[in-house]
Amino acid sequence: MHEDLERILFTHEQIHERIQELAGEISRDYRDRELMLVGVLKGAVFFLTHLAEALQTPVQVDFLGIASFSPGRALPGVVRISKDLDLDILDKDVLVVEDIVDTGLTLRYLLNILSGRQPSSLAVCTFLDKATRRLVDIPVKYSCFEIPDRFVVGFGLDYNQHYRALPYVGILKSHIYQAK
Ligand code: IMP
Ligand code: MG
Repeated sequence: MHEDLERILFTHEQIHERIQELAGEISRDYRDRELMLVGVLKGAVFFLTHLAEALQTPVQVDFLGIASFSPGRALPGVVRISKDLDLDILDKDVLVVEDIVDTGLTLRYLLNILSGRQPSSLAVCTFLDKATRRLVDIPVKYSCFEIPDRFVVGFGLDYNQHYRALPYVGILKSHIYQAK
């Protein structure tokens, strides 16, 4: 385990197993339809590639970037698109793939923009869900794991761009982010 972590929440094996299970559910729900996976950069990239590989339904993949979260400095609800989609989502079955839903403000903003482009359907799949922190009601259709209100890193999730490539999810020691 990385020395900056307090403990591991989900091992790579647990993550892998849960993604297989969730992919089975999604494949059944979207049987015979082509899904467009819209990954939110950069955190969702790791989850999205594992999920896409496990889906039995054909997929298209695209990404969009939003201004990143900075603990302490973030103005709640103020987010902007820094890289838009390359593909048109009109009449597509779109699944927004997120690393984590916290307050829900980022997703509310994104869903508003995407629904205006008139996809045939629009749903959310998140790797982690901090449900107790929610400030706005967001329809999260699929989630791998619900987690407590702690700052976590790994499997795509970062702190100041570090720790994304850890193959597991762990709780960051609080002195690491309180020192800044
Ligand atoms: P929301 O708008 O509050 O739902 O914010 C979501 C964003 O905050 C996520 O996409 C992450 O980038 C970031 N975030 C929230 N909690 C964590 C965490 O525990 N670890 C890493 N990033 C987090
Ligand atoms: Mg994010």
